[in-house]
Amino acid sequence: MKYGFFDDRRREYVITSPETPLPWINYLGCEAYFGIISNTAGGYSFYRDARLRRLTRYRYNNAPFDFGGRYIYVRDEASGRFWSPSWQPTRHEAEKYSCRHGLGYSIIGSTYEGIGAETLYFVPLGENLEIWQVTVTNGGKKPRRLSLFSSVEFCLWDAQDDSTNFQRNFSTGQVEINRGVIYHKTEYRERRNHFAYFACSEKPAGYDTQRDTFLGAYRSWDNPAAVERGRSFNSVANGWGPIGSHHVRLSLRPGETRRVIFVLGYHENPAGDKFDPPGSQTINKKSVRPTIARYVKPAAVDAAFESLRQYWDRLLGLYQAKTPDRHANRMVNIWNAYQCMATFNMSRSASFYESGIGRGLGFRDSTQDLLGFVHMVPGRARERVLDLASTQLESGGAYHQYQPLTKRGNNDVGSNFNDDPLWLIVGVAAYLKETGDWSILDAPVPYDNRPGSETPLFEHMQRSLRYTLERLGPHRLPLIGRADWNDCLNLNCFSETPGESFQTTTNKDGKVAESVFIAGLFVLAARELAEIALRRHLASEAGEYLSAAARMEETVCAHGWDGQWFLRAYDDFGNKIGSKECDEGKIFIETQGFCVLAGIGLKDGMAQMALDSVRKLLATPHGIMLQQPAYSRYYLHLGEISSYPPGYKENAGIFCHNNPWVMIAETMLGNGERALDYYLRINPSAREKIGSVHRCEPYVYAQMIAGKDAPTHGEAKNSWLTGTAAWNYYAVTQFILGIRPSYGGLIVAPVVPAAWEGFSVRREFRGVCYDITVSRKGRGNSVHMTVDGREVEGNVIPLPSAGVGRVAVNVLLS
Ligand code: GLC
Ligand code: GLC
Repeated sequence: MKYGFFDDRRREYVITSPETPLPWINYLGCEAYFGIISNTAGGYSFYRDARLRRLTRYRYNNAPFDFGGRYIYVRDEASGRFWSPSWQPTRHEAEKYSCRHGLGYSIIGSTYEGIGAETLYFVPLGENLEIWQVTVTNGGKKPRRLSLFSSVEFCLWDAQDDSTNFQRNFSTGQVEINRGVIYHKTEYRERRNHFAYFACSEKPAGYDTQRDTFLGAYRSWDNPAAVERGRSFNSVANGWGPIGSHHVRLSLRPGETRRVIFVLGYHENPAGDKFDPPGSQTINKKSVRPTIARYVKPAAVDAAFESLRQYWDRLLGLYQAKTPDRHANRMVNIWNAYQCMATFNMSRSASFYESGIGRGLGFRDSTQDLLGFVHMVPGRARERVLDLASTQLESGGAYHQYQPLTKRGNNDVGSNFNDDPLWLIVGVAAYLKETGDWSILDAPVPYDNRPGSETPLFEHMQRSLRYTLERLGPHRLPLIGRADWNDCLNLNCFSETPGESFQTTTNKDGKVAESVFIAGLFVLAARELAEIALRRHLASEAGEYLSAAARMEETVCAHGWDGQWFLRAYDDFGNKIGSKECDEGKIFIETQGFCVLAGIGLKDGMAQMALDSVRKLLATPHGIMLQQPAYSRYYLHLGEISSYPPGYKENAGIFCHNNPWVMIAETMLGNGERALDYYLRINPSAREKIGSVHRCEPYVYAQMIAGKDAPTHGEAKNSWLTGTAAWNYYAVTQFILGIRPSYGGLIVAPVVPAAWEGFSVRREFRGVCYDITVSRKGRGNSVHMTVDGREVEGNVIPLPSAGVGRVAVNVLLS
């Protein structure tokens, strides 16, 4: 069952039925002002930080699931009937409903009783505001008199406090209404210098700012009293629930179309200039007025929308592929890259599954996300790397998360996730290969944001490696700490108290439990750092890192191998996890994928054996499961992983994040068929046809798909914000299609199915545009290449001389 279709030309997914199995969402904003928006206009907005600067209110886990949003009501004055063009909240049976989710915008609308109404929602580049442009058309033969009502519910800024501290919050809400603009200014009188505003292109016939007046007691958003009676109450919120609603009257001749623009925005005033006149309690509106005046005009909206289109054209234009597989094309060229930008902006903070309250930016998450977005926004990637590294601790450890607004490490979660620091090396290496910007290594970066503690970034990376080496366990494998990549494998926690956090509770001394996964990650990171050191002429350091990597590899082979696959870990008793000796959890995906990806076992057949075991024991038609057999009960010594019912999340779910590790591993062994096969099993576009099983959006990856032990095998959950975005993009673009940046130039090393006759890629790299055409001659993966007509040995396209803007590369695969 499908709920819509891909419009690849317009780079949109068009949803044709509002009743999708779950809210199918999109993101607005790409810099500082953001929003999430569902296919029925549900969602909310915030400035920079979904927890600390929430503009509009949203109630998670509601019934209906997605309720509360950017709703418009249309009322026919003759009949008194009213409806919402976005279907929610009134849920009228519309004649023609569609939601076009595009790149940074959504257009949602429908036709009802001859009136077509659709709203374009987007955030102009460089602005802290969102536009709702409503286009209303009278499709009938009679003139119509209509009323439009806008509505938003303001959040009192701190989303956590807003949803809990009612004894205070019911008394603090404040607004101003001035020249038809509604200003939300709760706490502006005291310590806040910011406010929100909601403006309209028309002179409103009325307004409401008090929720319970607008709705009426005991009513909901599906039949607000003001809309029902056709007239606002001009209510002024004092405490309770401040909202914004304008009432606009329209008369439309047959065939006539009108545009009405609403602008919702965020604005800050300097602390000393908050009030006008000074000494009053009235918001100083001088600096915000020009912005409002500008964006209530159609010409400014058109221009801003066009700039947004060009912004995405440019970003996506950096890597465009034409392959024989349309799902790969669509995801690589449009949606996967787009999702990588969403994970860059949001990390794991705000989605329909992440409340914007719980998590800031994760150290491990954001460093991995770099792999997917560094080529699109290298300047911002640099800033992100430095922000992340600034939360590193002197020990080399790292805060697990930081708040985007303050850029400070989050003390509640703390550190000691022993994989965290190593990801910094992986992220910086990706940045360097992409940009060639070696100066970043010398940038002074503090520890724990402490002024005066700065060292060059390079030393942060050295400390990351040392952090692992200083924490080796009984087998000389890395100690796991609170957890490694798998946040739910909590080997030092032993929690018996309900509700206790598995991640922050640690009651074992942590000197025994070891992670084979971190060992694999260490091998990769140490080799990356060695290569960087060599290029900085630090030969002895490079030698040290290489031998540390070699020692770790030997340790993995000696103590991390189970006979047919890699072990996962040793627990606090020194017993194996992920071994044939275990009753449950005999084999895990992480170490099979990552150890091979790091180059372990490539020569002696271990890698092949590990991947064959994955195929036999973990692969399902819906993707590769995290482990098998699932844990059937709670194990005190394993922690959260065994808290999930079998088949869900880390307990034998299909974690789409580490499936690409196996894809990459398969390419390292030259298995193009298998790599692409795994790629397509979880590719959202390829799963569109099983929409009622998959249930999440068919245009973006979800964190997980239920595994075979789950009653809902194949059902996706937690879409959008997941390392899956970056890793799948990285796997398909750099390892399957095989076009990947290296220090000395772009590598061309495709590992694609023998049945593919060829493909082409247009890739911008360090300011040069490469047109790469790959054609098959034989069935293997050997590359013979000509660059601008000249034969080149090997598979690295040499960096062209200065001034060259385009390079044509022809590759024969045999
Ligand atoms: C979540 C976390 C990520 C972790 C993964 C596996 O996606 O954001 O950091 O690696 O779960 O537990
Ligand atoms: C939960 C989730 C896991 C996530 C972690 C973050 O344990 O299952 O995926 O990484 O929370 O704290």
